[in-house]
Amino acid sequence: MRTEFGASAPGKVNLHLGVGEARQDGYHDLVTVFQAVGRREAVRLLVDPALEMVGEGSVVREMSTFFEVAEPAEEINTPSNLAWRAVDAVVAEYRRQYPGPAAQFPRLRIVVEKTVFVAGGMAGGSADAAAALVAANEYVGHFGRAPLDGDVLLRLARGLGADVPFCLMGGTALGTGRGDDLVEMIARGEYHWVFVNPRVGLPTGEAFSLLDDLRHDNPALVPRLDTAALSRALLSGDPEAVAAALHNDLEPAAVRMRPQLRRLLEAAGEMGLRAVVSGSGPTVAVLCRDGGQAEGALAGLRERFPGCEAFATTGPGPGAQPH
Ligand code: C5P
Repeated sequence: MRTEFGASAPGKVNLHLGVGEARQDGYHDLVTVFQAVGRREAVRLLVDPALEMVGEGSVVREMSTFFEVAEPAEEINTPSNLAWRAVDAVVAEYRRQYPGPAAQFPRLRIVVEKTVFVAGGMAGGSADAAAALVAANEYVGHFGRAPLDGDVLLRLARGLGADVPFCLMGGTALGTGRGDDLVEMIARGEYHWVFVNPRVGLPTGEAFSLLDDLRHDNPALVPRLDTAALSRALLSGDPEAVAAALHNDLEPAAVRMRPQLRRLLEAAGEMGLRAVVSGSGPTVAVLCRDGGQAEGALAGLRERFPGCEAFATTGPGPGAQPH
């Protein structure tokens, strides 16, 4: 019997992040363009050697996380972790579809290998969830019946968080609604990125609500919901055109919350074509002309900001995949 089921999923950058009205459900309407990048989270499900079977409740016995990036202060290997909840969601859905003896599964341990910054605005936690959904679907599909359909996985992804569907899908996509109504976009070329994280957390929800406050006081901060220029730039495949079209409505809020971002954005912008805050931050994404410029920017940023953490990667990359 197979005792290990694994999958990986990408981190993302928002090439455009237009934030509209706050909604009743606590989210904001977005018009956003995501690009999946080459830094991927890996999730493995290791079947308990004792093969202890459970017919209801969580199949997860425990979880461990290995960090290639800085560790958060708080304990994250808990049942509220998105990867843990993703495994539970797949098993619960499978039990709903196939009640009876098929509901019995051996217990397992989740192992996550993190290469995307934690709470950095790159959807690292959402990528863990997407990879865990795919790994868990391999796992349930191994014990008799067909795995869950892709559209069921997508529904479960939506229930876990606004960025999880995109981490499943990958590539370059336009997201509307909470950012999880996705349409694939045509993007030519390969884009060279450097990501630099000042190692200060920045809670996504707080950035969104600060933006609401800033807009209240400053009517000039209008939502930018038009992505036509970016679409044209992505069709051209020209990194300079894409750099000129990058935009993030949340940037003023992120910079207000973490003022050190201003200097980082300025310096990073000079080392590449353009620097923007990634998602809700605090990670800064630097788009470069080519791999050579990215290498130079990476070295330059590490030297000038030794307290920060940085890596180079490319986009677009594929969505969640089993391995
Ligand atoms: O979906 P996720 O849990 O990643 O979102 C974290 C928080 O970010 C939400 O609770 C909400 O406050 C904010 N958010 C938002 N509008 C979105 C996505 C996230 O206001 N479209």
